[in-house]
Amino acid sequence: MSTRTALLAGATGLVGSHLLTRLLADPRYGRVTALVRRPPAVTHPDLDVRVTDFADLGADDVPAVDDVYCALGTTRKAAGSREAFRAVDQHLTVAVARHARRAGARRIALCSAIGARPGARAFYLRVKGDTEREVIGLGYDSTEVFRPSLLLGDRSEHRPAERASTAAAPLFTPLLVGPLRPCRPVSADRLAAAMITGLTAAAPGRHLHTYDDIMALSAP
Ligand SMILES: NC(=O)c1ccc[n+]([C@@H]2O[C@H](COP(=O)([O-])OP(=O)(O)OC[C@H]3O[C@@H](n4cnc5c(N)ncnc54)[C@H](OP(=O)(O)O)[C@@H]3O)[C@@H](O)[C@H]2O)c1
Repeated sequence: MSTRTALLAGATGLVGSHLLTRLLADPRYGRVTALVRRPPAVTHPDLDVRVTDFADLGADDVPAVDDVYCALGTTRKAAGSREAFRAVDQHLTVAVARHARRAGARRIALCSAIGARPGARAFYLRVKGDTEREVIGLGYDSTEVFRPSLLLGDRSEHRPAERASTAAAPLFTPLLVGPLRPCRPVSADRLAAAMITGLTAAAPGRHLHTYDDIMALSAP
């Protein structure tokens, strides 16, 4: 019998939708709770959809679960300002992780980004680094941080730069060798698979996963 329960934040996004499909099909998990601001396209008897006002997220919105998967995020353009971007990518992520930890969750998988570092020059990477640091500080038994580069997959939202990079990926990926290897693109579905394999097998402590690890953890 599946006894493990999961909370997923970001279930309607590119990575989150793959996580949702995989978690619902995973025999290790029973109930999967999706914390969303709009319902996902999927229905399933084990899926508990919680449509939530994230601007006013409180402890009551976050159920007691074993494992947390977080793939929340926005873009600066969609958010409208740096502060609004940080409010989603950092503050919302940390709020979900904090409430879930207080409700008893023991393990968390966080979708971050390659190059994340609190002192990074690039604002996006600085926010991702600050987010990682705060989530790690919450004291989960296991904190698995995934740092992908460009994510490949079907996205309905119009993101021209991402689309151009995706189209060029077959050309530049073989050139990313040596220290640039962690910058290789990865499909959102393989990342989702790696997050689940990584978290379900996680040893206690904090672990960072980049390209090679993501590919190994998601190997068929
Ligand atoms: N895309 C890339 O190439 C790439 C590369 C490296 C790292 N990452 C990181 O990987 C993570 C997942 O990326 P992704 O491309 O899967 O993201 P995505 O498709 O943009 O999905 C983001 C998720 O966050 C939710 N969200 C956004 N703003 C919200 C708000 N104000 N309140 C509540 N929920 C909100 C979205 O909900 P709605 O559907 O309701 O908008 C969606 O479920 C992000 O943290 C991103 O920074 C992405």
